[in-house]
Amino acid sequence: MADKTAKLHLNGQDYDLPILSPTKGPDVLDIRKLYGQADVFTYDPGFTSTASCVSTITFIDGDKGELWYRGYPIEQLAAKSCYLEVCYLLLYGELPTEAQMDDFRARVTRHTMVHEQMHNFFRGFRRDAHPMATMVGVVGAMSAFYHDSTDVNDEWQREVAAIRLIAKLPTIAAMAYKYSIGQPFVYPQNDLDYASNFLNMCFSVPAEKYEVNPALARAMDRIFTLHADHEQNASTSTVRLAGSVGANPFACIAAGIACLWGPAHGGANQACLEMLREIGTVDRIPEYIAKAKDKSDPFKLMGFGHRVYKNFDPRATVMKESADEVLDLLGVGDNPTLQVAKELEKIALEDEYFIEKKLYPNVDFYSGIILEAMGLPTSMFTPIFALSRTVGWIAQWKEMIGDPQNKIGRPRQLYVGSDRRDYVDLKAR
Ligand code: CMC
Repeated sequence: MADKTAKLHLNGQDYDLPILSPTKGPDVLDIRKLYGQADVFTYDPGFTSTASCVSTITFIDGDKGELWYRGYPIEQLAAKSCYLEVCYLLLYGELPTEAQMDDFRARVTRHTMVHEQMHNFFRGFRRDAHPMATMVGVVGAMSAFYHDSTDVNDEWQREVAAIRLIAKLPTIAAMAYKYSIGQPFVYPQNDLDYASNFLNMCFSVPAEKYEVNPALARAMDRIFTLHADHEQNASTSTVRLAGSVGANPFACIAAGIACLWGPAHGGANQACLEMLREIGTVDRIPEYIAKAKDKSDPFKLMGFGHRVYKNFDPRATVMKESADEVLDLLGVGDNPTLQVAKELEKIALEDEYFIEKKLYPNVDFYSGIILEAMGLPTSMFTPIFALSRTVGWIAQWKEMIGDPQNKIGRPRQLYVGSDRRDYVDLKAR
């Protein structure tokens, strides 16, 4: 990969730094030997200029607004594929043949139920627990229920853990929701496709028949697809970091879920909808735009901006189309929250501050609108992101374990604390 080098001149010495060339994207300076050779660290809080790994899974061009899974543009996958096929692609690197797809679907489908004892585990949570809080606990607890798939050095066990996680996350997310609203758990129904099964587990009750609307299932499937992976974002990096020390897959995914919950990451979809409700009416939008621009006010327009996309978020473009379809289908376009969303998007896109800082609506802005229209509470928005992203986390985790360059993730620091000093007895201070 390295056919060029960069020169570093430091303290009177020259060092050659190999330059690695990716398939796409900027060149990467290889500084792995720098500390050993030159006794110097690099400083990059937030990893804005640092590649933490080599990966073949997902590519993002933030300036062009491009997102590819294994080379396939997200727009094509969202229009032509389905989530389970995307899972196969992310996990195994290629689109499946029909036979491979049938086999994969059957394997995932047969793992959708959770251990019956886990029902008791759910009941230990407070009734009003946030579903994300429950999910962090229950997914972490999977390592206590599925001992036969926790050995990370065994390829077969890694595979079983991957399938279990993809299959059971919708069940766990739906159970967390049902528990939070005091309704009985609904068992998975294996004759339904992945998205329909999730909707059924969320919305059906024993007292009444529930028919899954195929158009809504398709919209949900698209939400899953658009969130399936996003290269080395905060939660994925968390999963890799936990995995780098050999933690079991369930513990690693629980760590990813905990990280995703943050409002600057996956928690933004809930925070965005809550913000739209707080704004309430279109006439109050200028007040919130002014708050977002005010440097002395910590308020940010949730659902706007992205660390990597500085042109537009391609997932948001697809999600916006989907939002329009779902709103039309459900006839809820005149819902006041959605009216505020549409007007806010329009005003922000024309505002000099947002244009200059390249702040566009991101995927979380529109996904919240769709989920709200479908009747899901805001507390379920991030769990849906988590279940969708599980496959990306696992694909990245598997890739890392198979990578001979893999090392324990252990950043260094720029220490600016006290110099060495001697302990002073309490009475003498
Ligand atoms: N509203 C108002 N100002 C903003 C916003 C916003 N949503 N986002 C960024 N800015 C300003 C920020 O104050 C800064 O201004 P200045 O240069 O004057 O200091 C400038 O734009 C650059 O922002 P940054 O915070 O340095 O950018 P970042 O790359 O560190 O942060 C972000 C990216 C997504 C955390 C941030 O835009 C944000 O907090 N957005 C709202 C939360 C959100 O919607 N998150 C979901 C991200 S997409 C889903 C996912 O991948 O999880």
